[in-house]
Amino acid sequence: MSGSEPNENDLTAVVHDAAQVVTVEEDGSLGIYEDAAIAVIDGDVTRVGATGPVTREFPPENATHAVDASGKAVVPGFVDPHTHALFAGDRSDEFEAKLRGKTYQEILADGGGILRTVQAVREASDEELLANLLSDLDMMLAHGTTTVEVKSGYGLDTKTELRMLDVISRADDRHAVDVVPTFMGAHAIPEGRDADEYADEVVEEQIPAVAEQGIAEFCDVFCEEGVFTVPQSRSVLKTGEEYGLTPKVHAEELAHIGGSQLAADLGATSADHLLHATEEDIAALTDAGVVPVLLPGTAFGLGAEFADARAFLDAGAPVAIATDFNPNCHSQSMGFASSLACVEMGMTPVEALVAGTKHAAMALDLEAGTGTLQPGSPADIAVIDAPNYVHVPYNFGVNTVETVLKNGEVVHHE
Ligand code: NIG
Ligand code: FE
Repeated sequence: MSGSEPNENDLTAVVHDAAQVVTVEEDGSLGIYEDAAIAVIDGDVTRVGATGPVTREFPPENATHAVDASGKAVVPGFVDPHTHALFAGDRSDEFEAKLRGKTYQEILADGGGILRTVQAVREASDEELLANLLSDLDMMLAHGTTTVEVKSGYGLDTKTELRMLDVISRADDRHAVDVVPTFMGAHAIPEGRDADEYADEVVEEQIPAVAEQGIAEFCDVFCEEGVFTVPQSRSVLKTGEEYGLTPKVHAEELAHIGGSQLAADLGATSADHLLHATEEDIAALTDAGVVPVLLPGTAFGLGAEFADARAFLDAGAPVAIATDFNPNCHSQSMGFASSLACVEMGMTPVEALVAGTKHAAMALDLEAGTGTLQPGSPADIAVIDAPNYVHVPYNFGVNTVETVLKNGEVVHHE
């Protein structure tokens, strides 16, 4: 035992008698402890090991939260590193249109898609937006997500972008799930506007206003055919950086236009989607230490080809997965993303778990150790109602999460 003797006040939680506790190791392998327990002091993992010795040292009756995990698997809480979870309105009719063969770009060109959500968000009150986001955060938490990134980008004007980021920050204050805010004024070209002229507005007006309020950590851009070109995206992300916003890129989602090379050049924290990334892109991103965030739910919803996860893994990249929860990809579940990662992208359950925890935390520059359950790391924990972690992807279409702890506090229980 290291450090001072624990006392009752310090012992936030003991999760005990688990069939299995799963940690993520430095090299991306899993540590699997059977008949195991976790002790949490002051919100951080202190000990992981066999239930007997851990509970003798840290008696569950002395803990604020004692969780009996008999017959269950205990894994790190999921980190969802890419969502557009704050929106208003309903686009379920577009799901039907896509099933009838309409493409995402056709829907967007008809004023649907992102632009329709922009209209709904501009018309919604702050309270309505906040209520929407809080309810989706509840759903994410129930599915084991303990940290989520949420982007703005359905405002497309300074006032509404700031309003979105303000709502995101209020939701973070109010909700147990940690919310990481990303500014994405360059998400689409507003109706009737010229792309260059709008990109200039993002650079000259929106970014300075966002930076002044200090309400975003990352700056993202939809670098895509028919949306923002590489030079426009570069200018947005460079300016964001000058104002203290770390770059992220929506790259090669619908077509290949060079977003990955841009992300590599800028040393972005992540490049996301990557359905059309080439071998050169994969090498450039991996060399530059950019985390590839793959979004299998989006490919699934679009009926598109999935990103080549295996090529990234073979290159040694720290592949992350995310839900991409948004009106075009209506799933809050990291469990479902992990089922798709395994079945459709050929990832193993080990790779999928690491992708939705440790690597996802890297895609958000979170405190080292987040998503690992290593001693000293935040005790963000999901208790799975199944004997092992493989059930997360294996039991597809069903929420396997029973209990969730955030910083050692029980914040959800089925
Ligand atoms: O990541 N690609 C751009 N943005 C979203 C879609 C947003 C929307 O359709 O509302 C995405 O898939
Ligand atoms: Fe996205």
